[in-house]
Amino acid sequence: MKEQKGVFKNLYRNLITPILQKDTGVDAEYLTNFSLSLLSFSSRKQNWPVISSILSNLNKEFCIVDKRLSQNICGINFCNPIGLAAGFDKNGNAVNIWRKFGFGFTEIGTVTKFAQNGNPKPRLFRLAEEEAALNRMGFNNRGAQNLVKNLHEQSIPLKQNRQNMCLGINFGKSKITGLSEAKEDYLTSLKLLIPFCDYAAINVSSPNTEGLRKLQDPVRLRELLREIKTLPNCPPLFVKIAPDLSFKDIEDICKLINEEKIDGIIATNTSLDRLGLEKRKIEQTGLLLSEENGGLSGRPLRKRANKIIKHIHNIDRRIILIGVGGIDSPESAWERICSGASLVQLYTGWIYKGPQLVPNILNGIIKQLDIHQLSNIKEAIGSDLQWVD
Ligand SMILES: Cc1cc2nc3c(=O)[nH]c(=O)nc-3n(C[C@H](O)[C@H](O)[C@H](O)COP(=O)(O)O)c2cc1C
Repeated sequence: MKEQKGVFKNLYRNLITPILQKDTGVDAEYLTNFSLSLLSFSSRKQNWPVISSILSNLNKEFCIVDKRLSQNICGINFCNPIGLAAGFDKNGNAVNIWRKFGFGFTEIGTVTKFAQNGNPKPRLFRLAEEEAALNRMGFNNRGAQNLVKNLHEQSIPLKQNRQNMCLGINFGKSKITGLSEAKEDYLTSLKLLIPFCDYAAINVSSPNTEGLRKLQDPVRLRELLREIKTLPNCPPLFVKIAPDLSFKDIEDICKLINEEKIDGIIATNTSLDRLGLEKRKIEQTGLLLSEENGGLSGRPLRKRANKIIKHIHNIDRRIILIGVGGIDSPESAWERICSGASLVQLYTGWIYKGPQLVPNILNGIIKQLDIHQLSNIKEAIGSDLQWVD
């Protein structure tokens, strides 16, 4: 594979990677917020000559352009299949920046109707050796109204006026809203944000908002999705599910997704299962992972998340799948696509591996397309083709 040479890759390797090699030291949430504030500033000041020059160099270093990577899904043009997963840019603060890192699409949020602080800190922990993370952030975000303001401040055009930017928005329920009023919460946020949404992700799977996962129950989910579908100009809808559902639960969800004509599923969110790491101690709290609240992400999630994609694809090939969970290499991205995902998203792996992960994955996919003599990424989806070195 072509070795990426570049300033930003080396900066990340020298400044950030050493921090990521230890559980303790620089707090994980502090590091995220610090990086986000730099990116947020750049997104708002992208026309300043110095910022514009930095962004153009970022673009040169990380963007891979190849027609074979592009697909039209639900009428949306995805220039490549790699997206930033929800939760990193919860308030949509750096929306102009993500494509400069080579992402083909970005999912901002989770946004809720009301601004909320989330759970008490510390609430995000690195598991450096396993390249994993435990988080119980609890939908800390500034609310839907503020997200609209943020998008305006960054001059993000409405979706019909946009080119070269694919933006998904992930919606959740506010903590203070009871389960029986959840619908109203989602609807209020959606109404405000539909003009910006290429697609909407309906998050019913975060483990850190009490009761939220009960919305995965088919009766409740059907009711919620039906209401959302009645909204004027409703964008394509994707339901984000947990990796902890049984295959039977997943089959029920697939059935209703089909009946209600929902476009697709994002699989998966973080896991309440400890995935073999029950005895792993969290240094900051002195507790074992089995004793901690929160969702597990990163490399340990890869196998489970892939199995779920495969299962859904086998149940119903019409459901469009976005695969997420433990993708941290070209091989793991290729595996997810060949299992049935049309698109994949990165979060924890992108942090550990650094921004070169996106071009590394895309170059890897292009090589596999060549080896398997495929003319577009679409032909690889659900093909079960193996990675060839
Ligand atoms: C710190 C953190 C915050 C997250 N916040 C959200 C969120 O607000 N909404 C959401 O749908 N998923 C959220 N996620 C889940 C990710 O989008 C993704 O589904 C999950 O981490 C699995 O992917 P990964 O193994 O590549 O990290 C969060 C994950 C992490 C690590």
